Amino acid sequence: MTIIYSTNAGSTERYAKMLSEKLSCPAVKINKAGDIDKNEEVIFMSWLMSGTLQDYSKAKEMFNNIRAVCAVGLFTTEDKLAEVTEKNAIGEELFFLHGAFNINNLTGMYKMMMGMAMKMIKAKLKESNDPKANEMADMFEKGIDLVKEEELDKVVEFLNA
Ligand SMILES: Cc1cc2nc3c(=O)[nH]c(=O)nc-3n(C[C@H](O)[C@H](O)[C@H](O)COP(=O)(O)O)c2cc1C
Repeated sequence: MTIIYSTNAGSTERYAKMLSEKLSCPAVKINKAGDIDKNEEVIFMSWLMSGTLQDYSKAKEMFNNIRAVCAVGLFTTEDKLAEVTEKNAIGEELFFLHGAFNINNLTGMYKMMMGMAMKMIKAKLKESNDPKANEMADMFEKGIDLVKEEELDKVVEFLNA
């Protein structure tokens, strides 16, 4: 079994390393996984960007035997998992894990995208007193870290069943 992961700011990598310890198997970043056997049993972990699970289609091309998929994100809730499954055409068991966000950990295009989102939220805040927008603006400003080892319990339970 090998954990294959994709990360931008590092929270998915933290989960991949934690799971690697729990399962005593290697965790390999997808761009370094070219030499791994196509038939290796794989757990794929990645992060959500605008509803898209990054590099999932790449992982599907690279591996025939994906046992489970973990999507790391901030805004998705358990009841929206079906949307993620449908949008990304995920054929395997899917788990959602709460990630982290800090604008200072982002680079290039993602930093720009989030900078723009932040400006929009602030503009919206000025117009209305929407508490949701307030909450979001606060989160963007201060950053948030929801990564917790316990989130992996359900994944381990599934794999051991
Ligand atoms: C540009 C951008 C778009 C995002 N879109 C989503 C999303 O659609 N759904 C979600 O739950 N989280 C979304 N997030 C939150 C990330 O999935 C979250 O920060 C995740 O922990 C990042 O993983 P990483 O630290 O491994 O890069 C988005 C983050 C960024 C920067």
